Amino acid sequence: MAAPEQFLELARSRRTAREHAPAPVPDSAIALILEAARWAPSAANRQPWEFVVVRDPALKQALRQAFLAEAQAHGDRYRSVTEKQADLLLAPGLILVCGDPATKVRYINADEIGEPVQEELFLLSMGAAIQNMLLAATACGLTSTWIARPARLEAVRALIGVPAEMRSLAFVALGVAQSPPHWSEQMRNPLKRHIDRFGES
Ligand SMILES: Cc1cc2nc3c(=O)[nH]c(=O)nc-3n(C[C@H](O)[C@H](O)[C@H](O)COP(=O)(O)O)c2cc1C
Repeated sequence: MAAPEQFLELARSRRTAREHAPAPVPDSAIALILEAARWAPSAANRQPWEFVVVRDPALKQALRQAFLAEAQAHGDRYRSVTEKQADLLLAPGLILVCGDPATKVRYINADEIGEPVQEELFLLSMGAAIQNMLLAATACGLTSTWIARPARLEAVRALIGVPAEMRSLAFVALGVAQSPPHWSEQMRNPLKRHIDRFGES
């Protein structure tokens, strides 16, 4: 069991990487990251997640092109951000995180809570899995990036063959860290903590 301070250090040093070194990510690290995702909490333990490990360099290039093509319909600012995001898809490690929305209607109180709450629980469960992946990556000495865009990109779904009924929610890009990730207190707002009621401390 990690000491509390070691865990805090790990949580703080998980930084979003904007580029990844080209060194290969070991298969053992990918396996550990996926195992960490499998152990994430999920609403009603429905475990909606499925993962596609993208290894094929040609497929990564095609995914990158899909990002760039989508950006053509948008303004300069979006296009320049997309160019950087697209490059992240060439990272040595790349995992598409998908979720099965069929799990939503199997909540015991699915009828009572209705679709919006089912969706909330589904997405929160997916987020828990992704966060476990990022922390596991940090523990493995890897850099990581949560890339949200595949949720909107039909071309990504087509290239990877994501079945129509599945949601594709994020890529996790991974690389081997060249130096310890930088963090500083300025990267976070002060804690907004209340005791018992909002506005009371
Ligand atoms: C739901 C979600 C979506 C995100 N999408 C992207 C993304 O598409 N591209 C990206 O570079 N970073 C993305 N990020 C990373 C955030 O930009 C990053 O977590 C934030 O700027 C704080 O930086 P840090 O992760 O280094 O603490 C996403 C993070 C979350 C939680």
